[in-house]
Amino acid sequence: MVSFKEVSFVAAVTAALFSIGVNAVDNGLAITPQMGWDNWNAFGCDVSEELLLQTAQLIVDYGLKDLGYHYVILDDCWSVGRNASNNNSLIADPEKFPRGMAAVADNLHALGLGFGMYSDAGKYTCGGYAGSLGYETVDANTFAGWGVDYLKYDNCFNEGYAGNQQLSSARYRTMGNALNATGRPILYSLCNWGEDYPWNWGSTIANSWRISGDVFDSFDMADARCPCDGPDAWNCGLPGFHCSVTNIMNKASFIVSKAQPGGWNDLDMLEVGNGAMTDAEYVAHFSMWAVAKSPLIMGNDIRTIAPADLAILSNTAVIAVNQDPSGSSAARRWIYNTNGTDANGRASIQMWSGNLASTTGGTYSDMVVLLVNGNDATTVMNATLANIFVDSGPVGTAPQAQMSWEVRDLWANRMSSDEAASIIAASSATGNATAGYNATTVGSGRYNSTAMSYKEGLAANSTLLLGNVTTTVQALGTITATVDPHGAALFRLRALPTGSLRKRDEL
Ligand code: GAL
Repeated sequence: MVSFKEVSFVAAVTAALFSIGVNAVDNGLAITPQMGWDNWNAFGCDVSEELLLQTAQLIVDYGLKDLGYHYVILDDCWSVGRNASNNNSLIADPEKFPRGMAAVADNLHALGLGFGMYSDAGKYTCGGYAGSLGYETVDANTFAGWGVDYLKYDNCFNEGYAGNQQLSSARYRTMGNALNATGRPILYSLCNWGEDYPWNWGSTIANSWRISGDVFDSFDMADARCPCDGPDAWNCGLPGFHCSVTNIMNKASFIVSKAQPGGWNDLDMLEVGNGAMTDAEYVAHFSMWAVAKSPLIMGNDIRTIAPADLAILSNTAVIAVNQDPSGSSAARRWIYNTNGTDANGRASIQMWSGNLASTTGGTYSDMVVLLVNGNDATTVMNATLANIFVDSGPVGTAPQAQMSWEVRDLWANRMSSDEAASIIAASSATGNATAGYNATTVGSGRYNSTAMSYKEGLAANSTLLLGNVTTTVQALGTITATVDPHGAALFRLRALPTGSLRKRDEL
């Protein structure tokens, strides 16, 4: 029994917390994980107005804006310092951005896109340009004045204001407060590489927080520059960089419950299309980021995108899982080491599952199931309903494990490379970046989330979002998939009417 003393202690602590402003970030943004494009993975410091605007036009032309890729994010290396005679405000590099940042923002807004900006909670950015530490208010006001809609905020040269959660969160909160004070809704994306457990405090000040060192275009390559490798890597003190997608997924597996509407675990920008992974690996990468509710920020050169990569990034059945209104991440249910079947002897297979919003009107919601094959060989993988629904009851006791389900393959309707090629050709054939995407001639029948949100489309059972029914799985049964080397299978399970269950019971 809770004593009066304890109750008043709890009340006092609660009141104290509220008085120091511990509440979730309340800018109304990123209710589902943010989507967009960032130049860093493909271009590094080679940034310019031309790059951003050409890319933005292609995001529109290729239908990617319609799919939800909204923010065009400029990363590091864009400034030439501060202007002492103008309140020490940041100056955009006049060679890279001859018309200034406000003009870029205007052009992006005219296309219906958002403008993302980069700075650093330190003296310098990671590229050595002026950082925002100590200049939070002036920089937030500058960004708001330019029409910025998004801030990625990095962690280099932080002057030692790190090492525990209080130091890091206070430093990041200062910019969050400055952004809020501008009155302009600016999505706030923390980039401190998982240092000081940002998943514990990030949601109180920001919309997302990076959980690891920088991603690398590799499925599972071990690299000394990214320590803490392997399925048990937890509590990593050294974020590093050159982290494979498998490495980052392992790190994500420990903190899935931290994802929530308005605040997401950021697994870093996508590498799809950057060329060093196989098609199967990119399918796995995109599937993993989608189920873990990571922001989906494309990181490739859209101007030279290959049809197969456009098809991956355009898979609405997968994006619909990421943008599902339930806003809860899938969780890893098992991982098995399969030593010996992989060149580096550390391969694994794993299964993730998670609840989606119910779209059938029934009692039990849809469920997403992801199987990832880390072996170098094609592998037949099995997922039992008992394991898929283990959150709702152990060893098959969950009511859902005792029902029958439709199994919908979310990669079955992947756009063909021919169709993707025709979408690409329809834009470049005009030779004119302002000609625009013509939905009636190319890509007709594609999903348009700017006209109907994923939430509405799912509620309306839009077939473009639900994949293909391939089979059904009976009560206490097993789903089996033959999965490519380093590939993935991704399914949406949908409850069959209980009538079928009853019939089975009667047999
Ligand atoms: C890193 C960050 C990268 C990129 C880079 C720019 O710290 O994680 O995503 O922004 O800095 O220098």
